[in-house]
Amino acid sequence: MGTEANTGKVTDHAFLDACKCRPTTITPVWLMRQAGRYLSEYREIREKYSFIEMCKTPDVAVEVTLQPVELLGVDAAIIFADIMLPLEGMGVDFEFSEGGGPVIRSPVGSTQDVQKLRVAQAQEAVPYLLEAIKSARERLRDRVPLIGFSGAPFTLASYLIEGGQSRNWLATKKFMYTEPSAWHSLMEKLTDTLVSCLKEQAKAGAQALQVFDSWVGCLSPLDYDRFVMPHSKRLFDSIKDLDAPAIHFGTDTATLIERIRDAGGDVIGVDWRIPIDEARERIGYDRAIQGNLDPAVLFAPLDIIREKVLDILNRAGSRPGHIFNLGHGVLPGTPPDNVKAMIDMVHEINSRETG
Ligand code: CP3
Repeated sequence: MGTEANTGKVTDHAFLDACKCRPTTITPVWLMRQAGRYLSEYREIREKYSFIEMCKTPDVAVEVTLQPVELLGVDAAIIFADIMLPLEGMGVDFEFSEGGGPVIRSPVGSTQDVQKLRVAQAQEAVPYLLEAIKSARERLRDRVPLIGFSGAPFTLASYLIEGGQSRNWLATKKFMYTEPSAWHSLMEKLTDTLVSCLKEQAKAGAQALQVFDSWVGCLSPLDYDRFVMPHSKRLFDSIKDLDAPAIHFGTDTATLIERIRDAGGDVIGVDWRIPIDEARERIGYDRAIQGNLDPAVLFAPLDIIREKVLDILNRAGSRPGHIFNLGHGVLPGTPPDNVKAMIDMVHEINSRETG
């Protein structure tokens, strides 16, 4: 078995051990967007509050953070929040449209717009998030580890420039190519803000940190090198000595995977567009890997779900350092019974095979 990175002592938590490529008796599993609208228990709370109110009310955020731990038996909790929240502290005005994602009221379009943005410290930008993390740790009582998170500079820059979701990231790319120094200044301000948010989350009790570069797969490898790598690398370098492993996640990254690894992270997240054995080989065995079931598979009959789960576990093999997850977040409308069945499958299949 891969002993290269089997350093340090084994903990009580399969998830944290897998992040460090230490052997585990089960393959740990958690899901991006595991707390969300597909759960009726979430929708019940959501009827009473807006999404932002839920994020900013620590008691509610903690309640929702714990739902998938109690209902589904996942091996990690992720604090209920959003990648957009730290932007408020930078002076950005945004809202969440009903079901349509974030909308920025005045998107960034010029050097002056970038100059107006402030670097924010976590305590002023997201105090409610730090409070929610402390309280979630108390309520979890070490049952499972708690993951904190942020967006990556590129993905947040793309929201700031596009003003919301995009199909082709044209405004973002145009800004990169025509205003390169404003682009780099924007990425620097974002990186400084995000480093503060990640460090303070770890201080508040987050035991791992996931950085979501959800949309970075739209870039060519050379543009990644030039416009993203220096900033993402600085971010990961700044958090690498924390007592919390870092997960570097992106989608559609089959052409970027070595670069994403080089930018940093103890764990590299991959989606279903790349077979997980191929991804592991290209990343190398000194990093852990997270993924990579297509979230759409959770709408399939159980025998198909089982076939796909088995395939991923077989491809990941018995070498330590695999965290089972979807390749992207749970989709609204996903049958919760299928999610629960899938999580049970990961635990059963793996413990039977490894004894
Ligand atoms: O359970 C968890 O994973 C923790 C909570 C979490 C949310 N957003 C809650 C949320 C996390 C980790 C995020 C990260 C996030 N937010 C990302 C990166 C992950 C990814 O999906 O790529 C991105 C791109 C965002 C921005 C964002 N926030 C979008 C695009 C949307 C709308 C799309 C959607 O699924 O509704 C949101 C809103 C949002 N964030 C919801 C939730 C539960 C839905 C809010 C509601 O109840 O209406």
